[in-house]
Amino acid sequence: MKKIEVKLTNEKYSIYIERGILELAGDKVKEIFDGEKIIIITDDNVNLLYGERLREILEKAGFIINVIIIPPGEKNKNSETLNRIYKELIKFQTTRSDMIVALGGGVVGDVAGFAASTYVRGISYVQIPTSLIAQVDSSVGGKVAINLEEGKNLIGSFYHPKMVLIDPDLLKTLDQRYFNDGVAEVIKYACIKDKKLFETLLRVKNNQELNDNITDIICKCCEIKKEIVQRDERDKSERMLLNFGHTIGHAIEKIFKYEKYTHGEAVAIGMHLITIQSEKLELSKMGAAIQIKEILIKFDLPYEIDKKYYEEIRKEIANDKKREGSILNHVLLKEIGKGYVSKIPIVEFSKFI
Ligand code: GLY
Repeated sequence: MKKIEVKLTNEKYSIYIERGILELAGDKVKEIFDGEKIIIITDDNVNLLYGERLREILEKAGFIINVIIIPPGEKNKNSETLNRIYKELIKFQTTRSDMIVALGGGVVGDVAGFAASTYVRGISYVQIPTSLIAQVDSSVGGKVAINLEEGKNLIGSFYHPKMVLIDPDLLKTLDQRYFNDGVAEVIKYACIKDKKLFETLLRVKNNQELNDNITDIICKCCEIKKEIVQRDERDKSERMLLNFGHTIGHAIEKIFKYEKYTHGEAVAIGMHLITIQSEKLELSKMGAAIQIKEILIKFDLPYEIDKKYYEEIRKEIANDKKREGSILNHVLLKEIGKGYVSKIPIVEFSKFI
């Protein structure tokens, strides 16, 4: 079993990665939680697959279990779902000495984590991510949030889980499109920090080969993220690298109302477009964009969008609520494996799309 320790200024927690680790969730949870009651928060889809099994495992370990089931999808990562969670937590008489377990993909992890950070001013939670995107990225690092109509993740906090349990076997039930959604985030890590990982992605022949090596790839991504988060927990400098492709990606997701493109697909387009332009502007070494495109095609990910949407994307980015005043931090590649944050006036972003 692989163990990665995330050591932060005021706390630390472990990420455990192992095929079949879900079966050990009872023992693992006992190591970090001595309370009685656990509330599993999951969505309709994941509940059908793993909800009952996790309940049995945790009950066998002696915990009292309640389950809150939310509707799936980015569109439901909102205040309505959050309010429903609060009401059910109250109904189950949840107190600060109880704990939440987030069982699901990025949406479940984000909204359950945000509920944990705010309910009675904060109760403990554990992440059990079930999608590739959550296993390589969103379950680690403590960013929890909900969306507003005006944009993604506009209400949120930094609130770290007590533990992350990653079971790559849970990916077996993941639809191919959603597996590839997570591959986009793996490509991101390779682009910003790890040339060797990028070369692996260039070398693997297909999805099956990637899947055969997925445990090692998840470990690599979690290690990269842990290092970054330890150095910049609050997203003030280096952590911004994790937003490579995300400025354009978030705009695309929003324009298409979180329906046409998954998060990873939108980020895939963002990574490719920004790299093409930064090569043209001689801010990146030539050759990266073509290689990114090659990998995106291999994993059935989009790499472009009709130019008729460019104006709308520019407008969305101009309204980005997460800029610093009139400055936008955006992430470019010096070359593959070397991302950097570039600060530009928001009005100049049009050079990049
Ligand atoms: N997913 C980006 C971050 O955690 O900073």
